[in-house]
Amino acid sequence: MWKRLGRRIFDVYVQGNLVLKNFVIQSTVGGISKQAIQRNFTASVKENYLEIHLFWAGKGTCCIPDPGTYGPSISAISATADFIPIVSKDRTSIIVRIIVGVGIASFLLAFSAFFVVRRKKRSNTSTNEELLDIDAKPSTFSYVELKTATEDFNLANKLGEGGFGPVYKGKLNDGRVIAVKQLSMVSHQGKSQFVTEIAIISAVQHRNLVKLYGFCIEGDNRLLVYEYLENKSLDQALFRKKSLNLDWAKRFDVCLGVARGLAYLHEESRIQIVHRDVKASNILLDFDLIPKISDFGLAKLYDDKKTHISTRVAGTIGYLAPEYAMRGHLTKKVDVFGFGVVALEIVSGRPNSDSTLEEEKIYLLEWAWHLHENNREVELVDSNLSEFNKEEVKRVIGIALLCTQSSPNLRPLMSRVVAMLSGDIEVSNVTSRPGYLTDWTFDDASIFMSDKATIGTNTTHDNSSISASTISRT
Ligand SMILES: Nc1ncnc2c1ncn2[C@@H]1O[C@H](COP(=O)(O)OP(=O)(O)OP(=O)(O)O)[C@@H](O)[C@H]1O
Ligand SMILES: [Mg+2]
Repeated sequence: MWKRLGRRIFDVYVQGNLVLKNFVIQSTVGGISKQAIQRNFTASVKENYLEIHLFWAGKGTCCIPDPGTYGPSISAISATADFIPIVSKDRTSIIVRIIVGVGIASFLLAFSAFFVVRRKKRSNTSTNEELLDIDAKPSTFSYVELKTATEDFNLANKLGEGGFGPVYKGKLNDGRVIAVKQLSMVSHQGKSQFVTEIAIISAVQHRNLVKLYGFCIEGDNRLLVYEYLENKSLDQALFRKKSLNLDWAKRFDVCLGVARGLAYLHEESRIQIVHRDVKASNILLDFDLIPKISDFGLAKLYDDKKTHISTRVAGTIGYLAPEYAMRGHLTKKVDVFGFGVVALEIVSGRPNSDSTLEEEKIYLLEWAWHLHENNREVELVDSNLSEFNKEEVKRVIGIALLCTQSSPNLRPLMSRVVAMLSGDIEVSNVTSRPGYLTDWTFDDASIFMSDKATIGTNTTHDNSSISASTISRT
Protein backbone atom coordinates (compact mmCIF):
# COMPACT_ATOMS: atom_id res chain seq x y z
CA MET A 1 0.00 0.00 0.00
CA TRP A 2 1.22 3.50 -0.83
CA LYS A 3 1.05 5.82 2.12
CA ARG A 4 3.38 8.51 0.86
CA LEU A 5 4.00 10.54 -2.25
CA GLY A 6 5.74 8.77 -5.08
CA ARG A 7 8.91 9.98 -6.77
CA ARG A 8 8.03 11.61 -10.09
CA ILE A 9 10.91 11.95 -12.48
CA PHE A 10 10.44 13.57 -15.86
CA ASP A 11 12.39 14.44 -18.95
CA VAL A 12 11.06 17.76 -20.23
CA TYR A 13 11.06 18.62 -23.93
CA VAL A 14 10.33 21.96 -25.57
CA GLN A 15 9.72 21.82 -29.34
CA GLY A 16 11.12 18.30 -29.33
CA ASN A 17 14.40 19.31 -27.66
CA LEU A 18 15.36 17.91 -24.29
CA VAL A 19 15.62 20.87 -21.90
CA LEU A 20 15.47 19.19 -18.50
CA LYS A 21 16.62 15.68 -17.79
CA ASN A 22 15.48 13.72 -14.75
CA PHE A 23 13.52 16.66 -13.41
CA VAL A 24 12.11 16.04 -9.93
CA ILE A 25 9.96 18.90 -8.79
CA GLN A 26 10.02 17.77 -5.19
CA SER A 27 13.78 17.87 -4.78
CA THR A 28 14.02 21.05 -6.87
CA VAL A 29 11.73 22.87 -4.49
CA GLY A 30 13.29 21.18 -1.45
CA GLY A 31 10.37 19.16 -0.16
CA ILE A 32 6.68 19.87 -0.38
CA SER A 33 5.91 23.47 -1.18
CA LYS A 34 3.25 25.62 -2.73
CA GLN A 35 5.89 27.83 -4.23
CA ALA A 36 6.00 27.82 -8.01
CA ILE A 37 9.11 26.73 -9.83
CA GLN A 38 9.88 28.91 -12.80
CA ARG A 39 12.00 27.93 -15.76
CA ASN A 40 12.85 29.97 -18.86
CA PHE A 41 13.67 28.39 -22.21
CA THR A 42 14.32 29.77 -25.64
CA ALA A 43 12.62 27.98 -28.51
CA SER A 44 11.77 28.81 -32.08
CA VAL A 45 8.04 28.93 -32.71
CA LYS A 46 6.41 28.43 -36.09
CA GLU A 47 2.72 28.84 -36.88
CA ASN A 48 1.86 29.55 -33.25
CA TYR A 49 2.83 26.03 -32.36
CA LEU A 50 4.64 25.43 -29.11
CA GLU A 51 4.99 21.91 -27.84
CA ILE A 52 5.97 21.09 -24.27
CA HIS A 53 6.25 17.49 -23.17
CA LEU A 54 6.89 15.92 -19.82
CA PHE A 55 7.91 12.35 -20.36
CA TRP A 56 8.22 9.81 -17.60
CA ALA A 57 11.98 9.32 -17.34
CA GLY A 58 11.70 5.57 -16.91
CA LYS A 59 12.36 5.62 -13.18
CA GLY A 60 10.72 6.69 -9.95
CA THR A 61 7.40 5.40 -8.70
CA CYS A 62 5.55 3.60 -11.41
CA CYS A 63 2.47 2.04 -9.91
CA ILE A 64 -0.35 3.98 -8.40
CA PRO A 65 -3.02 2.08 -6.49
CA ASP A 66 -5.78 4.66 -6.94
CA PRO A 67 -6.66 6.58 -10.06
CA GLY A 68 -5.99 10.27 -9.75
CA THR A 69 -3.84 13.14 -10.86
CA TYR A 70 -0.16 13.00 -10.04
CA GLY A 71 3.02 14.80 -10.90
CA PRO A 72 3.92 18.42 -11.52
CA SER A 73 1.39 20.76 -12.99
CA ILE A 74 2.29 23.47 -15.42
CA SER A 75 0.06 26.27 -14.34
CA ALA A 76 1.19 29.10 -16.57
CA ILE A 77 3.15 29.35 -19.74
CA SER A 78 4.24 32.70 -20.97
CA ALA A 79 5.83 33.02 -24.38
CA THR A 80 7.53 36.24 -25.39
CA ALA A 81 9.16 37.10 -28.70
CA ASP A 82 12.82 38.08 -28.26
CA PHE A 83 13.02 39.96 -31.55
CA ILE A 84 11.33 42.79 -33.40
CA PRO A 85 10.61 41.62 -36.91
CA ILE A 86 10.60 44.03 -39.83
CA VAL A 87 7.45 43.51 -41.80
CA SER A 88 7.54 46.14 -44.56
CA LYS A 89 9.34 49.24 -45.83
CA ASP A 90 7.77 52.48 -46.97
CA ARG A 91 9.18 55.61 -48.60
CA THR A 92 10.26 57.49 -45.53
CA SER A 93 11.11 55.03 -42.93
CA ILE A 94 11.12 51.47 -41.92
CA ILE A 95 7.91 50.68 -40.19
CA VAL A 96 8.51 48.21 -37.52
CA ARG A 97 5.56 46.20 -36.45
CA ILE A 98 5.62 44.37 -33.27
CA ILE A 99 4.51 40.87 -33.44
CA VAL A 100 2.96 39.63 -30.39
CA GLY A 101 2.00 36.57 -32.26
CA VAL A 102 3.59 33.90 -30.29
CA GLY A 103 0.65 34.18 -27.94
CA ILE A 104 0.26 33.63 -24.29
CA ALA A 105 -1.17 30.36 -23.39
CA SER A 106 -2.42 29.70 -19.98
CA PHE A 107 -3.68 26.37 -19.08
CA LEU A 108 -3.54 23.71 -16.49
CA LEU A 109 -2.10 20.43 -17.50
CA ALA A 110 -2.24 17.68 -15.02
CA PHE A 111 0.38 15.15 -15.77
CA SER A 112 0.21 11.69 -14.45
CA ALA A 113 3.31 9.61 -13.91
CA PHE A 114 1.26 7.13 -15.73
CA PHE A 115 -2.18 8.29 -16.66
CA VAL A 116 -4.76 10.80 -15.81
CA VAL A 117 -7.67 8.50 -15.52
CA ARG A 118 -11.25 9.35 -15.74
CA ARG A 119 -14.01 7.32 -14.26
CA LYS A 120 -16.52 6.33 -16.78
CA LYS A 121 -19.65 4.34 -16.59
CA ARG A 122 -19.36 2.07 -19.56
CA SER A 123 -21.97 -0.58 -19.90
CA ASN A 124 -25.18 1.35 -19.60
CA THR A 125 -24.00 4.74 -20.75
CA SER A 126 -25.68 5.59 -24.02
CA THR A 127 -23.60 6.95 -26.82
CA ASN A 128 -25.37 10.27 -26.55
CA GLU A 129 -24.48 10.58 -22.90
CA GLU A 130 -20.94 9.79 -23.92
CA LEU A 131 -21.03 12.73 -26.27
CA LEU A 132 -22.44 15.05 -23.62
CA ASP A 133 -19.59 14.10 -21.34
CA ILE A 134 -17.03 15.63 -23.66
CA ASP A 135 -16.10 19.27 -23.13
CA ALA A 136 -15.16 20.41 -26.62
CA LYS A 137 -18.13 19.67 -28.82
CA PRO A 138 -17.81 19.75 -32.57
CA SER A 139 -20.19 21.82 -34.67
CA THR A 140 -23.13 20.30 -36.45
CA PHE A 141 -23.73 20.67 -40.17
CA SER A 142 -26.99 20.24 -42.01
CA TYR A 143 -27.17 17.57 -44.69
CA VAL A 144 -28.06 20.20 -47.30
CA GLU A 145 -24.98 22.21 -46.37
CA LEU A 146 -22.72 19.20 -46.94
CA LYS A 147 -24.57 18.20 -50.08
CA THR A 148 -23.90 21.65 -51.50
CA ALA A 149 -20.30 21.64 -50.32
CA THR A 150 -19.57 18.37 -52.14
CA GLU A 151 -21.65 19.28 -55.24
CA ASP A 152 -24.24 16.65 -54.46
CA PHE A 153 -21.60 14.11 -53.44
CA ASN A 154 -20.23 14.26 -56.93
CA LEU A 155 -18.07 11.30 -57.94
CA ALA A 156 -15.50 13.75 -59.23
CA ASN A 157 -15.04 14.90 -55.63
CA LYS A 158 -14.64 11.41 -54.21
CA LEU A 159 -11.34 11.04 -52.40
CA GLY A 160 -11.56 7.36 -51.62
CA GLU A 161 -13.56 4.78 -49.77
CA GLY A 162 -12.66 2.86 -46.65
CA GLY A 163 -14.51 0.42 -44.46
CA PHE A 164 -17.15 2.86 -43.31
CA GLY A 165 -18.07 4.58 -46.52
CA PRO A 166 -16.90 7.05 -49.16
CA VAL A 167 -14.97 10.26 -48.46
CA TYR A 168 -15.64 13.41 -50.54
CA LYS A 169 -13.79 16.65 -50.91
CA GLY A 170 -15.95 19.74 -50.40
CA LYS A 171 -15.93 23.46 -49.80
CA LEU A 172 -18.00 25.20 -47.15
CA ASN A 173 -19.59 28.61 -47.65
CA ASP A 174 -17.03 30.12 -45.32
CA GLY A 175 -14.29 28.96 -47.70
CA ARG A 176 -12.96 26.06 -45.65
CA VAL A 177 -12.00 23.01 -47.70
CA ILE A 178 -13.26 19.84 -46.07
CA ALA A 179 -13.25 16.07 -46.36
CA VAL A 180 -16.70 14.58 -45.71
CA LYS A 181 -16.88 10.98 -44.63
CA GLN A 182 -20.29 9.60 -45.47
CA LEU A 183 -21.08 6.68 -43.24
CA SER A 184 -22.55 3.95 -45.36
CA MET A 185 -25.67 2.25 -44.08
CA VAL A 186 -24.21 -1.20 -44.53
CA SER A 187 -21.34 -0.49 -42.15
CA HIS A 188 -21.58 -2.78 -39.19
CA GLN A 189 -22.03 -0.94 -35.87
CA GLY A 190 -22.02 2.24 -37.88
CA LYS A 191 -23.85 4.48 -35.50
CA SER A 192 -21.98 3.77 -32.31
CA GLN A 193 -18.64 3.92 -34.07
CA PHE A 194 -19.71 7.21 -35.59
CA VAL A 195 -20.69 8.71 -32.26
CA THR A 196 -17.55 7.38 -30.58
CA GLU A 197 -15.46 8.96 -33.26
CA ILE A 198 -17.12 12.32 -32.76
CA ALA A 199 -16.76 12.20 -29.00
CA ILE A 200 -13.15 11.19 -29.00
CA ILE A 201 -11.85 13.42 -31.72
CA SER A 202 -13.55 16.45 -30.25
CA ALA A 203 -11.76 15.96 -26.98
CA VAL A 204 -8.26 15.62 -28.34
CA GLN A 205 -6.30 18.04 -30.44
CA HIS A 206 -2.71 17.84 -31.49
CA ARG A 207 -0.59 18.98 -34.38
CA ASN A 208 -0.28 15.39 -35.58
CA LEU A 209 -3.97 14.52 -35.42
CA VAL A 210 -6.58 15.31 -38.08
CA LYS A 211 -9.03 18.01 -36.99
CA LEU A 212 -12.69 17.19 -36.91
CA TYR A 213 -14.69 20.28 -37.87
CA GLY A 214 -18.03 18.74 -37.09
CA PHE A 215 -20.65 16.20 -38.02
CA CYS A 216 -24.16 15.70 -39.36
CA ILE A 217 -26.84 13.34 -38.11
CA GLU A 218 -30.07 13.75 -40.01
CA GLY A 219 -32.46 10.86 -40.47
CA ASP A 220 -30.38 7.98 -41.72
CA ASN A 221 -27.58 10.25 -42.81
CA ARG A 222 -24.47 10.36 -40.70
CA LEU A 223 -21.44 12.27 -41.84
CA LEU A 224 -18.14 13.40 -40.40
CA VAL A 225 -16.55 16.64 -41.52
CA TYR A 226 -12.76 16.82 -41.33
CA GLU A 227 -10.17 19.36 -42.36
CA TYR A 228 -9.00 18.54 -45.87
CA LEU A 229 -5.37 17.52 -46.19
CA GLU A 230 -3.85 18.41 -49.54
CA ASN A 231 -1.38 15.61 -49.76
CA LYS A 232 -3.85 12.83 -48.91
CA SER A 233 -2.73 9.63 -47.27
CA LEU A 234 0.73 8.23 -46.65
CA ASP A 235 -0.01 4.95 -48.44
CA GLN A 236 -0.66 6.90 -51.64
CA ALA A 237 2.51 8.94 -51.20
CA LEU A 238 4.61 5.86 -50.52
CA PHE A 239 3.15 3.13 -52.69
CA ARG A 240 1.21 4.77 -55.47
CA LYS A 241 1.46 8.47 -56.31
CA LYS A 242 5.18 8.81 -55.81
CA SER A 243 5.11 12.35 -57.18
CA LEU A 244 5.48 13.75 -53.68
CA ASN A 245 9.04 12.45 -53.73
CA LEU A 246 9.35 11.94 -50.04
CA ASP A 247 13.08 12.16 -49.41
CA TRP A 248 14.67 10.62 -46.35
CA ALA A 249 14.50 13.77 -44.21
CA LYS A 250 10.75 14.08 -44.89
CA ARG A 251 10.18 10.39 -44.20
CA PHE A 252 12.04 10.66 -40.92
CA ASP A 253 9.92 13.68 -39.95
CA VAL A 254 6.76 11.78 -40.84
CA CYS A 255 7.87 8.92 -38.58
CA LEU A 256 8.56 11.31 -35.73
CA GLY A 257 5.28 13.16 -36.23
CA VAL A 258 3.24 9.96 -36.20
CA ALA A 259 5.10 8.79 -33.08
CA ARG A 260 4.33 12.12 -31.39
CA GLY A 261 0.67 11.93 -32.34
CA LEU A 262 0.39 8.43 -30.89
CA ALA A 263 2.35 9.36 -27.75
CA TYR A 264 -0.16 12.16 -27.27
CA LEU A 265 -3.14 9.85 -27.70
CA HIS A 266 -1.70 7.22 -25.37
CA GLU A 267 0.01 9.18 -22.68
CA GLU A 268 -0.80 12.86 -22.74
CA SER A 269 -4.35 13.57 -23.79
CA ARG A 270 -6.92 13.88 -21.05
CA ILE A 271 -8.69 10.79 -22.31
CA GLN A 272 -6.46 7.82 -22.95
CA ILE A 273 -6.97 6.57 -26.46
CA VAL A 274 -5.96 3.44 -28.30
CA HIS A 275 -6.38 4.07 -32.02
CA ARG A 276 -6.72 0.39 -33.00
CA ASP A 277 -6.19 0.95 -36.74
CA VAL A 278 -2.77 2.53 -37.16
CA LYS A 279 -1.83 2.08 -40.82
CA ALA A 280 -0.45 4.08 -43.72
CA SER A 281 -3.89 5.01 -45.12
CA ASN A 282 -4.85 6.48 -41.76
CA ILE A 283 -1.93 8.89 -41.81
CA LEU A 284 -2.66 11.98 -43.86
CA LEU A 285 -0.18 14.60 -45.01
CA ASP A 286 -0.90 18.32 -45.00
CA PHE A 287 0.47 20.92 -47.41
CA ASP A 288 3.81 21.00 -45.57
CA LEU A 289 3.90 17.19 -45.34
CA ILE A 290 3.19 17.27 -41.63
CA PRO A 291 1.61 13.90 -40.81
CA LYS A 292 -1.82 13.80 -39.20
CA ILE A 293 -3.31 10.63 -37.79
CA SER A 294 -6.92 10.12 -38.89
CA ASP A 295 -9.83 7.85 -38.01
CA PHE A 296 -10.39 7.54 -34.35
CA GLY A 297 -13.73 5.89 -34.96
CA LEU A 298 -12.43 2.59 -33.82
CA ALA A 299 -10.77 3.93 -30.76
CA LYS A 300 -12.21 3.32 -27.34
CA LEU A 301 -11.86 5.27 -24.17
CA TYR A 302 -9.55 3.70 -21.68
CA ASP A 303 -11.20 2.05 -18.78
CA ASP A 304 -9.51 3.03 -15.56
CA LYS A 305 -10.32 -0.24 -13.88
CA LYS A 306 -8.67 -2.48 -16.43
CA THR A 307 -5.19 -2.80 -17.77
CA HIS A 308 -6.62 -3.67 -21.14
CA ILE A 309 -9.91 -3.81 -22.92
CA SER A 310 -11.05 -6.95 -24.62
CA THR A 311 -13.60 -6.16 -27.23
CA ARG A 312 -14.48 -6.77 -30.83
CA VAL A 313 -11.46 -6.91 -33.03
CA ALA A 314 -11.42 -4.29 -35.73
CA GLY A 315 -8.24 -3.49 -37.52
CA THR A 316 -6.40 -4.12 -40.71
CA ILE A 317 -4.50 -7.24 -41.64
CA GLY A 318 -0.79 -6.74 -41.81
CA TYR A 319 -0.82 -4.14 -39.04
CA LEU A 320 -2.48 -6.26 -36.37
CA ALA A 321 -0.55 -7.19 -33.26
CA PRO A 322 -0.76 -10.98 -32.73
CA GLU A 323 -2.38 -10.80 -29.28
CA TYR A 324 -5.09 -8.54 -30.69
CA ALA A 325 -5.70 -10.62 -33.80
CA MET A 326 -5.88 -13.86 -31.84
CA ARG A 327 -7.52 -12.84 -28.60
CA GLY A 328 -8.89 -9.35 -29.02
CA HIS A 329 -6.46 -8.23 -26.34
CA LEU A 330 -6.39 -4.47 -26.81
CA THR A 331 -3.81 -2.19 -25.24
CA LYS A 332 -1.86 0.78 -26.52
CA LYS A 333 0.85 -1.73 -27.45
CA VAL A 334 -1.41 -2.77 -30.34
CA ASP A 335 -0.87 0.72 -31.80
CA VAL A 336 2.86 0.44 -31.09
CA PHE A 337 2.88 -2.69 -33.24
CA GLY A 338 0.99 -0.89 -36.03
CA PHE A 339 3.45 1.98 -35.80
CA GLY A 340 6.36 -0.45 -36.20
CA VAL A 341 4.84 -1.79 -39.42
CA VAL A 342 4.21 1.75 -40.74
CA ALA A 343 7.81 2.73 -39.90
CA LEU A 344 9.11 -0.17 -42.00
CA GLU A 345 6.81 0.87 -44.85
CA ILE A 346 8.16 4.41 -44.65
CA VAL A 347 11.76 3.19 -44.86
CA SER A 348 11.12 0.69 -47.65
CA GLY A 349 8.43 2.52 -49.67
CA ARG A 350 6.51 -0.74 -50.06
CA PRO A 351 3.40 -2.15 -48.37
CA ASN A 352 3.65 -4.67 -45.54
CA SER A 353 2.82 -7.51 -47.86
CA ASP A 354 3.38 -7.60 -51.61
CA SER A 355 2.80 -10.86 -53.42
CA THR A 356 4.45 -9.57 -56.60
CA LEU A 357 7.85 -9.71 -54.90
CA GLU A 358 10.23 -12.64 -54.55
CA GLU A 359 9.06 -15.14 -51.95
CA GLU A 360 11.45 -14.10 -49.18
CA LYS A 361 10.47 -10.44 -49.57
CA ILE A 362 6.69 -10.81 -49.64
CA TYR A 363 6.20 -10.07 -45.94
CA LEU A 364 7.95 -6.89 -44.96
CA LEU A 365 8.45 -7.86 -41.31
CA GLU A 366 9.97 -11.18 -42.27
CA TRP A 367 12.23 -9.55 -44.84
CA ALA A 368 13.29 -6.85 -42.38
CA TRP A 369 14.20 -9.52 -39.84
CA HIS A 370 16.19 -11.43 -42.38
CA LEU A 371 18.19 -8.33 -43.28
CA HIS A 372 18.63 -7.35 -39.64
CA GLU A 373 20.02 -10.78 -38.73
CA ASN A 374 22.53 -10.48 -41.51
CA ASN A 375 23.45 -6.91 -40.67
CA ARG A 376 22.10 -5.78 -44.04
CA GLU A 377 19.30 -3.44 -42.80
CA VAL A 378 20.26 -0.72 -45.21
CA GLU A 379 19.10 -2.88 -48.14
CA LEU A 380 15.56 -2.34 -46.93
CA VAL A 381 15.67 1.33 -47.92
CA ASP A 382 13.43 2.38 -50.82
CA SER A 383 15.43 2.20 -54.05
CA ASN A 384 13.93 5.59 -54.99
CA LEU A 385 15.99 7.20 -52.24
CA SER A 386 19.35 8.11 -53.67
CA GLU A 387 20.54 9.65 -50.43
CA PHE A 388 19.72 8.86 -46.85
CA ASN A 389 21.16 9.09 -43.38
CA LYS A 390 22.36 5.56 -42.67
CA GLU A 391 22.43 6.04 -38.92
CA GLU A 392 18.82 7.30 -38.88
CA VAL A 393 17.69 4.46 -41.15
CA LYS A 394 19.21 1.89 -38.78
CA ARG A 395 17.62 3.65 -35.84
CA VAL A 396 14.15 3.61 -37.42
CA ILE A 397 14.47 -0.07 -38.39
CA GLY A 398 15.77 -0.96 -34.90
CA ILE A 399 12.79 0.84 -33.34
CA ALA A 400 10.36 -0.84 -35.75
CA LEU A 401 11.69 -4.26 -34.74
CA LEU A 402 11.28 -3.36 -31.08
CA CYS A 403 7.73 -2.18 -31.71
CA THR A 404 6.73 -5.40 -33.47
CA GLN A 405 7.93 -7.87 -30.86
CA SER A 406 5.54 -10.69 -30.00
CA SER A 407 5.16 -9.79 -26.38
CA PRO A 408 3.36 -6.48 -25.86
CA ASN A 409 5.48 -5.95 -22.73
CA LEU A 410 8.65 -5.90 -24.78
CA ARG A 411 7.33 -3.17 -27.08
CA PRO A 412 8.23 0.36 -25.96
CA LEU A 413 5.72 3.06 -25.04
CA MET A 414 5.31 5.66 -27.78
CA SER A 415 6.99 8.32 -25.62
CA ARG A 416 10.08 6.08 -25.56
CA VAL A 417 9.81 5.70 -29.31
CA VAL A 418 9.82 9.50 -29.67
CA ALA A 419 12.88 9.74 -27.42
CA MET A 420 14.64 6.97 -29.36
CA LEU A 421 13.83 8.56 -32.70
CA SER A 422 15.10 11.91 -31.45
CA GLY A 423 18.32 10.19 -30.38
CA ASP A 424 17.85 11.04 -26.70
CA ILE A 425 17.94 7.42 -25.64
CA GLU A 426 19.63 4.39 -27.11
CA VAL A 427 17.69 1.93 -29.24
CA SER A 428 18.14 -1.42 -27.55
CA ASN A 429 19.09 -4.19 -29.90
CA VAL A 430 16.49 -6.89 -30.51
CA THR A 431 18.23 -10.18 -31.01
CA SER A 432 15.56 -12.81 -31.46
CA ARG A 433 12.89 -12.98 -34.10
CA PRO A 434 9.36 -12.65 -32.78
CA GLY A 435 7.64 -16.00 -32.26
CA TYR A 436 4.90 -15.27 -34.75
CA LEU A 437 7.55 -15.22 -37.48
CA THR A 438 9.64 -18.19 -36.36
CA ASP A 439 6.68 -20.42 -35.51
CA TRP A 440 5.05 -20.13 -38.87
CA THR A 441 5.98 -21.85 -42.02
CA PHE A 442 5.64 -19.68 -45.08
CA ASP A 443 2.27 -21.24 -45.88
CA ASP A 444 0.90 -20.61 -42.39
CA ALA A 445 1.91 -16.98 -42.62
CA SER A 446 0.21 -16.57 -45.94
CA ILE A 447 -3.10 -17.56 -44.37
CA PHE A 448 -2.72 -14.79 -41.84
CA MET A 449 -1.13 -12.01 -43.78
CA SER A 450 -2.56 -12.43 -47.24
CA ASP A 451 -4.06 -9.39 -48.94
CA LYS A 452 -7.17 -11.35 -49.67
CA ALA A 453 -7.59 -12.95 -46.26
CA THR A 454 -10.52 -12.25 -44.03
CA ILE A 455 -10.81 -13.49 -40.51
CA GLY A 456 -13.73 -13.73 -38.17
CA THR A 457 -17.44 -13.51 -38.44
CA ASN A 458 -18.06 -10.04 -39.75
CA THR A 459 -16.16 -8.55 -42.62
CA THR A 460 -16.93 -4.89 -42.40
CA HIS A 461 -14.00 -3.43 -44.25
CA ASP A 462 -12.57 -3.94 -47.65
CA ASN A 463 -10.71 -7.14 -48.28
CA SER A 464 -7.76 -6.22 -46.15
CA SER A 465 -9.59 -5.29 -42.97
CA ILE A 466 -11.31 -7.48 -40.47
CA SER A 467 -13.79 -7.47 -37.68
CA ALA A 468 -13.98 -10.59 -35.58
CA SER A 469 -15.74 -11.48 -32.39
CA THR A 470 -13.75 -11.66 -29.24
CA ILE A 471 -12.56 -15.11 -28.31
CA SER A 472 -11.42 -14.41 -24.81
CA ARG A 473 -12.38 -11.86 -22.24
CA THR A 474 -10.19 -11.00 -19.30
N1 LIG B 1 -9.20 14.58 -44.31
C1 LIG B 1 -8.84 14.08 -45.49
N2 LIG B 1 -8.18 14.84 -46.37
C2 LIG B 1 -7.81 14.33 -47.57
N3 LIG B 1 -8.03 13.06 -47.96
C3 LIG B 1 -8.69 12.25 -47.11
C4 LIG B 1 -9.13 12.71 -45.84
N4 LIG B 1 -9.74 11.68 -45.20
C5 LIG B 1 -9.67 10.62 -46.04
N5 LIG B 1 -9.06 10.96 -47.19
C6 LIG B 1 -8.82 10.09 -48.35
O1 LIG B 1 -9.87 9.17 -48.47
C7 LIG B 1 -9.37 7.83 -48.47
C8 LIG B 1 -10.38 6.93 -47.78
O2 LIG B 1 -10.35 7.18 -46.40
P1 LIG B 1 -11.01 6.19 -45.37
O3 LIG B 1 -10.62 6.56 -43.99
O4 LIG B 1 -12.47 6.11 -45.66
O5 LIG B 1 -10.39 4.78 -45.77
P2 LIG B 1 -9.09 4.01 -45.30
O6 LIG B 1 -8.30 4.87 -44.39
O7 LIG B 1 -8.41 3.47 -46.50
O8 LIG B 1 -9.70 2.79 -44.52
P3 LIG B 1 -10.39 2.78 -43.05
O9 LIG B 1 -11.85 2.81 -43.29
O10 LIG B 1 -9.94 1.49 -42.46
O11 LIG B 1 -9.90 3.98 -42.32
C9 LIG B 1 -8.02 7.91 -47.76
O12 LIG B 1 -7.14 6.94 -48.19
C10 LIG B 1 -7.53 9.30 -48.15
O13 LIG B 1 -6.81 9.24 -49.35
MG1 LIG C 1 -9.03 5.93 -42.89
